[in-house]
Amino acid sequence: MKIIHLDKPICDKQRAELLFSSHLLIYTHSQSMIELLELTKVLLAKYFGKLDPVHAQQTLTKEQFLNAVSQAQLAFQQSNHMRQLFFNVLSECGVSLSQCYYDHFPLRVVPFKQQHAGIQRSAIGHHRDTWGSNIHCQQNWWAPIFNLTEERTIAFYPDYWEKPIANTTKTWCFEQYKKSRSLTKSGQNNIYPSAPVTTAKVDENNIVKVLLQPGEILNFSSAHLHASVPNSSNKTRYSIEMRTLNTADLRRKIQAPNVDNEGQKPMYSWFKNVITNNILT
Ligand SMILES: [Fe+2]
Repeated sequence: MKIIHLDKPICDKQRAELLFSSHLLIYTHSQSMIELLELTKVLLAKYFGKLDPVHAQQTLTKEQFLNAVSQAQLAFQQSNHMRQLFFNVLSECGVSLSQCYYDHFPLRVVPFKQQHAGIQRSAIGHHRDTWGSNIHCQQNWWAPIFNLTEERTIAFYPDYWEKPIANTTKTWCFEQYKKSRSLTKSGQNNIYPSAPVTTAKVDENNIVKVLLQPGEILNFSSAHLHASVPNSSNKTRYSIEMRTLNTADLRRKIQAPNVDNEGQKPMYSWFKNVITNNILT
């Protein structure tokens, strides 16, 4: 696994070759990403007022903080403009948008010092994003809103590119997750995980903590085992992410190796075309 910095676009074919042989790509040249960063900061200011979003956790009560976070996340998720700006980012990285399908575009928040632990556990613990979707040509895009440090970033486990880790892909069920979610009262945590999880201890010896600057975008194969570093800094982490796939990769089975995913059903219906919004079938 190499970390490759790119200051110009690459074509989808080249991207697939690099990602599905385990490399991580960091794009450093997107003007739309700079615009998106600024707009995200404006949006956060709307809900945190004069408080700095990375320190607001120190001033607000848990309830006030989580309330501001969930309002900001909802506004972000509902913004067509923000999403369109990220499509522009993809285009500036060389993605052919007509062949590109995406799932969703969340603003992720990782509080510090284990405060509010429990939120989005399966999204921040060790996992592969191909678990659950069962689509092995899937790619992840990830970008920080504020500065990162080794105590507050995303981590990869390159040994597990070829090595399996025990997990719940065989038994995890999306329908069951949805059912459990619909029965969960607001303000409570859904006890059924939102995605499969590991059931064995991950060897942390060769962990790679990736640092990138706000304005840069990390792109990796969804088959990489990764996690959010438990935030032991004194600042809240904010990042955005999207998962995509390219129809040519799907058709030609250009994809990452599957070393431990026992899920069978590809969840094509999670993905929509960037241009037409048609669901992948
Ligand atoms: Fe992930």
